[in-house]
Amino acid sequence: MQSEIRKKLLDAFTDAGESFLSGQYLAELIGCSRTAVWKHMEDLRKEGFTLEAVRNKGYRIVKTPERITADEIRLGLITNFIGKNIHYEESVESTQKIAHHLSNEGVPEGTVVIAEEQRSGKGRLNRSWHSPKYSGIWMSLILRPNIPLTKAPQLTLLTAVAIVQAIEEVTNLQPVIKWPNDILLNGKKITGILTELQAEADRIHSVIIGTGINVNQKREDFPSELHDTASSLSIENGAPISRAELIKSVFKHFEKLYLLYLEQGFFPIKLLWEGYAVSIGKILKARTLTNVIEGKALGITDDGVLKLEDKTGFIHHIYSADIEI
Ligand code: BTN
Repeated sequence: MQSEIRKKLLDAFTDAGESFLSGQYLAELIGCSRTAVWKHMEDLRKEGFTLEAVRNKGYRIVKTPERITADEIRLGLITNFIGKNIHYEESVESTQKIAHHLSNEGVPEGTVVIAEEQRSGKGRLNRSWHSPKYSGIWMSLILRPNIPLTKAPQLTLLTAVAIVQAIEEVTNLQPVIKWPNDILLNGKKITGILTELQAEADRIHSVIIGTGINVNQKREDFPSELHDTASSLSIENGAPISRAELIKSVFKHFEKLYLLYLEQGFFPIKLLWEGYAVSIGKILKARTLTNVIEGKALGITDDGVLKLEDKTGFIHHIYSADIEI
């Protein structure tokens, strides 16, 4: 029913070209009230359509959403294996789930699952990840590194560096990293990274790195409980950003860093990560599952563990926590 109405609306706007269609006309066309028409128009806007609404004239569509196509990403992609194999989906529960499945089927390293929308996107610590249609980058990358299980978190830190470098390349923004892997602009979260493993004993079958980048959402597109803590690149930049360009740039920077990592280990990545980290040298509060520890962030260990020095001079090793700066 909903999709029938949507089809009727879009057909009417297709026929209208650049002309306005009045709320009354649309209400009669789809057989509902003008308030219901307004709601449908809001839904379209949330999906990435740019609409113009003028009193006494009605509505018209000024710009359609920027869908990402796999071909658009392939065009101009200069990597050798990252993103060479793309699984593009319109709407999924979670790209992580599909990536796990594909990994079991033996797809090549560097395969990426990208979706326009996630209906139940997964965040860290069992939280959900808001992933509305056409406005962000929701993707999962499949890697098969020959490294011990304990070193897998290093890849999360590497991913954060690649994303910061890509954002710097495609926009004029300068994001920072909050341990372990949140990317922030003006204190608000722009990107989250979720790393999951397929492994047995000490052997990694694959590492699935899920990345959520808030790109073109407007403030009102975020649920109200996220208004104070989350933002998008376009809000901070003041202009929309091409998701396809950003994806290509992430792939390029990721591949370069990953090859460096496989050749030289974590040390060069750690230096880069610390250069972007907002928390190092500051007094932080780390909320772990059992405790709140306050102290000065000294840096990270080679395993990506945060070192916090408390008032007594004791150095705590923080493996997993929420950080307050
Ligand atoms: C976090 O909590 O900071 C991590 C968020 C990770 C979200 C991404 S979006 C693509 C991939 N699929 C998911 O369901 N989650 C990750």
